[in-house]
Amino acid sequence: MIENLTAKLTETLSHFGIYGTIGEIFEGPLITDIQFQLNTGTKFSTVEKSIKDIAREIGVSGIRVAPVVNSTYISFEIPQPQAQTIPFAPILQSGEFRNADYALPILIGVNMHGKPIMKDLSKMPHLLVAGTTGSGKSVGLNSFILSLINKKRPDELKLILVDPKRIEFSMYNNQRYMLCPAVTDMSMAARWLEKLCDEMNARYAVFEKNMVRNIGEYLAKGNKMPYIVCVIDEFADLILFDKNVEKQVQILAQKSRAAGIHLVIATQRPSVDVITGVIKANLPTRLSYKVSSPVDSMTILNTDGAEDLLGRGDSLLLEENGTLTRALGAYVSNDDIMNQLLPYRCEMKDIDYSGIITGTQIQEQTAEYIAQQEKAKEDALNAGKPMGFTAKVKAWWNKLGKPMQRRIINIGIAFVMALISGKKSAKKGTLQTATDAAVKSAKRSVKTQAKNAITKAVLDSLNKK
Ligand SMILES: Nc1ncnc2c1ncn2[C@@H]1O[C@H](COP(=O)(O)OP(=O)(O)OP(=O)(O)O)[C@@H](O)[C@H]1O
Ligand SMILES: [Mg+2]
Repeated sequence: MIENLTAKLTETLSHFGIYGTIGEIFEGPLITDIQFQLNTGTKFSTVEKSIKDIAREIGVSGIRVAPVVNSTYISFEIPQPQAQTIPFAPILQSGEFRNADYALPILIGVNMHGKPIMKDLSKMPHLLVAGTTGSGKSVGLNSFILSLINKKRPDELKLILVDPKRIEFSMYNNQRYMLCPAVTDMSMAARWLEKLCDEMNARYAVFEKNMVRNIGEYLAKGNKMPYIVCVIDEFADLILFDKNVEKQVQILAQKSRAAGIHLVIATQRPSVDVITGVIKANLPTRLSYKVSSPVDSMTILNTDGAEDLLGRGDSLLLEENGTLTRALGAYVSNDDIMNQLLPYRCEMKDIDYSGIITGTQIQEQTAEYIAQQEKAKEDALNAGKPMGFTAKVKAWWNKLGKPMQRRIINIGIAFVMALISGKKSAKKGTLQTATDAAVKSAKRSVKTQAKNAITKAVLDSLNKK
């Protein structure tokens, strides 16, 4: 089988005037990696240019060709006819994962030869993830979060999970790791980023007082302070909702590493209005799943190629030093999530905020957020029911909008004032008539006539005084 493929590749290459020698061959879960040494004088760019036609002749889609680092070989990554799924749980049991001695270990996936790729988020120090819909971003984010949870206790790690789609992270609610329930409301998400900035600044003040430079040194002195990881599943929703978010992400990305606060930001839309120059400059470590165009690949990785990935967790990791590694994400099932989380279930009120300097404020914001969520839930459940009188008045009042509400309140105040002073100056009669007129019109139409009549009554009574 492999022999057939190698022979076919060599023959096809010769059709394009490309000659050389076959080197090592690795059969991985997703692709077969055939290394090839070009004859001297043959340009790599010639192969690159013809790669789509070579793939067509071989009869496969999406061959990726890349130079092998520190070698004279290039590698042809040819998709397997049947891609394997890499289950998540066995990797957690593997020696590579168990022995990884990182502050914040995250599992990116396996390499083309099936070996786990572990990275230390504390060194990255943030991660930008992109990929078209269905490419495996959320599965990837779950694998990062679960690998962190597997290695860190709740007093060592706290999470803020932002999930505009509302369903991706709901399973993490009521976990000892959560600083607050998964944030599904965008205005709250922006406020959480502000809170993270506050916590970062507070941590620096504490470090200064303790004469340490970073969280590692602070922990080494026997102090307690959890790392905080903030994962945002759809960054486009957030930045397009509130442009200020870019500024907060910039501040955090630039300064929060030493304070032990890290961001993982994912987006379906790797366009320049979402991944702006500022964001790119501050998040040098990036992971791209399959994207829809070479332009998107350029935006996230500074090179094309991610558009040819095969989907289902197939990805390219760009590290700070510029190296590009292909990784296949492990598949995280709902059972994996449940099994990992089960021991850490708790009520939100039992969350331990010790070591979080701004813990009290965070707790307050969490309480506010929970109340807001409860109300939104209640409203959603009541959506189909017929409205009672109070609800109707409330809905009418809300529909008026802030400026009109303010005007009505002002008129009301003026009316009461006029009534009081009217009584004093014994002009009861006039006011009585005016009020009657107002009530009468109110019966006809609550909205407009009442307002006009009251305005008129107040003005009349004031004029007569
Ligand atoms: N590593 C993987 N191995 C196997 N299948 C995968 C993997 N990752 C994703 N898939 C498959 O692709 C589907 C979509 O994945 P996922 O929900 O992570 O996509 P997404 O990029 O988050 O999409 P969206 O942008 O729409 O949220 C999964 O339900 C699963 O069937
Ligand atoms: Mg998703």
